[in-house]
Amino acid sequence: MNYSDKTILITGASSGIGAATALELAKFNNRIIITARREKLLDEIGKKIIAAGSDAMTIVGDATQESHGKDVVEQIINTHGDIDIAILNVGIGPPSNTLTITPETVRFCYEANYYSFINFFCPLIDRMKHQPSPCMISHMNSQATWFGIPMQGDYTAAKAAARIFLDTARMELKHFGFNHIRLQTIHPGFVDTEAVRNDGIPSPNEISEQAAAMYVLKGLKKEMRENIFPPTTKWATKLGKIVPHQMLTKILLSAIPKRY
Ligand SMILES: NC(=O)c1ccc[n+]([C@@H]2O[C@H](COP(=O)([O-])OP(=O)(O)OC[C@H]3O[C@@H](n4cnc5c(N)ncnc54)[C@H](OP(=O)(O)O)[C@@H]3O)[C@@H](O)[C@H]2O)c1
Repeated sequence: MNYSDKTILITGASSGIGAATALELAKFNNRIIITARREKLLDEIGKKIIAAGSDAMTIVGDATQESHGKDVVEQIINTHGDIDIAILNVGIGPPSNTLTITPETVRFCYEANYYSFINFFCPLIDRMKHQPSPCMISHMNSQATWFGIPMQGDYTAAKAAARIFLDTARMELKHFGFNHIRLQTIHPGFVDTEAVRNDGIPSPNEISEQAAAMYVLKGLKKEMRENIFPPTTKWATKLGKIVPHQMLTKILLSAIPKRY
């Protein structure tokens, strides 16, 4: 999908991959709507978007709240009309451990990674099903979505849920004749963002936020169903899906400390 002169929503764009993607897309004369909770950071990114030549709208809010997703979509429709591209990027991946988790910590992780996506997906589909032109919803998933990763059980489960939800949605849209709505999942490997810099989880073949943003743009352009990057971790992940379970377990646990 062409990404110039488009109305583009990016959630979770106050930092990291979301902010870097917004700044790359800002070079192409777009109308960019960014959301997050940290107002000051969001405003700074908004100013940079304008300086790069695009229109910017910043909307502060908590993506785990159903009303926030609805309000944001309504505000965009009232200002710009149709929404061409939505990159639903909000997510957190704090380290966790099956021996110390509580229902509350798991629910928190699920809200931030699954409902932060659903809360936008539903009002977006509601609008997009009436739009005449091609449009796209792209969800920021992870390569962790295909495995139970040690120290990230709740995170990987929430990302897997979102991936499977979108697999079903894709089939239904096709079946019911809504082929103009593209659904994409983005699966980065390790990206050097502030959020993960000191989380203690090993991060081989890590790439920069800017490099990740360039991969995101490439995936939009090619309308990839699954945008998996960088190639090094993409192939490791593919291999991980076919190696015997015992071997995979050994590899995944190799860098994890013995004491919990
Ligand atoms: N970094 C990696 O290695 C990696 C790898 C695979 C996938 N990912 C995925 O990439 C996405 C971005 O992560 P990142 O590494 O770039 O981290 P990040 O810099 O912390 O970005 C997360 C963004 O989401 C926003 N956010 C978090 N919780 C929110 C909430 N409840 N309501 C509204 N906004 C919220 C944050 O803004 P506020 O705090 O201002 O609200 C921030 O803008 C996540 O979905 C993550 O799972 C990252």
